[in-house]
Amino acid sequence: MVNKERIFSGIQPSGRLHIGNYLGAISQFVPLQDTYDTVFGIVDLHAMTQLYEKAGMSERITNAAVNYLACGLDPEKAILMLQSGVPEHTELAWILATVTPLPWIQRVPTFKEKARHQPDNVNMGLFNYPVLMAADILIYKSVAVPVGEDQRPHLELTREIARTFNTRFGDFFPEPAEIISTGEGARVIGLNGKNRMSKSLDNCIYLDDEPDVIREKIAKQGVTDPARVKRTDAGNPSICNIFTWHKLFSTKEEQAYCAKECRRAGFGCLDCKAILTKNILELLVPIQERQKELMADLNKVKEIIRDGTNRARKIAQETMKEIRDITGLTYLS
Ligand code: TYM
Repeated sequence: MVNKERIFSGIQPSGRLHIGNYLGAISQFVPLQDTYDTVFGIVDLHAMTQLYEKAGMSERITNAAVNYLACGLDPEKAILMLQSGVPEHTELAWILATVTPLPWIQRVPTFKEKARHQPDNVNMGLFNYPVLMAADILIYKSVAVPVGEDQRPHLELTREIARTFNTRFGDFFPEPAEIISTGEGARVIGLNGKNRMSKSLDNCIYLDDEPDVIREKIAKQGVTDPARVKRTDAGNPSICNIFTWHKLFSTKEEQAYCAKECRRAGFGCLDCKAILTKNILELLVPIQERQKELMADLNKVKEIIRDGTNRARKIAQETMKEIRDITGLTYLS
């Protein structure tokens, strides 16, 4: 059998998954599992870098696993794993930390943003976050990482860390490329039309939101062209977030129709939103049916994660053995 190249990506179990996670990440994972060896992680150790509710951790891990599977990841093809079940990730993170100059982390935009967001909890884990992420990727010698646009600086840093390690200890890690969707899916804006859709902001459509909740969120919270106040005002689709979402969910014909009707005040924002909602539900309802089936057999979901974690650990242990050799940590071997 030919050895395929490997790909890793991960999602934090820090809340319910939303359509930004789907479009930026999971929808990219699904086709990759046919052409690469794929490892998809639920990165619970990363989720500990913010204050979190301990009692809900297992439930959030379940939610991530169920969504991975409901969106089309196939445990026969891809490895689905839990980060804390493979301690080699943290072992490698330590080694990588020793080749990472401090200023590299200080300039990572996500670190600065998170430090601003949680000023009372700027912990060492937050500082080490990008190094642990590099370890997640490099422990599998991944050649590429499918992610949303917000993760690009982390991938740049991962390559720099790999390069520094290779210069110091000999050519070992590939320099992984990011795989980022080319369209609007790379950075899905939230319902408020301003910020990136994010679990930490109240601006999400969740993958398990009931259809009525989705209808109501889009109708009531979905921000449109702010200058279009009355039904009779002509709107400008190019500054309307609902129209941006149309580009993600609607056909070219529907997009053209909505743009035209908006510009000539031929229909109201609610009519435009109804077309969008129909299309979002067409995508989400089958996913939600699979979610329900999986939720009815959580033992099976746990077995899939346990099995994937064991398979991932075997690969990670092999890599760590090689790393111990090339870094001189061999005294007891
Ligand atoms: P996380 O959990 O914040 O997000 C998971 C994935 O979803 C993407 N994403 C989005 N894409 C488009 N639009 C959005 N609004 C949006 N919101 C989230 C993210 O870009 C990501 O791909 N640091 C990572 C987790 C991680 C990881 C890794 C990823 C840890 N180790 C190794 C890849 C490889 C994170 O916080 O993702």
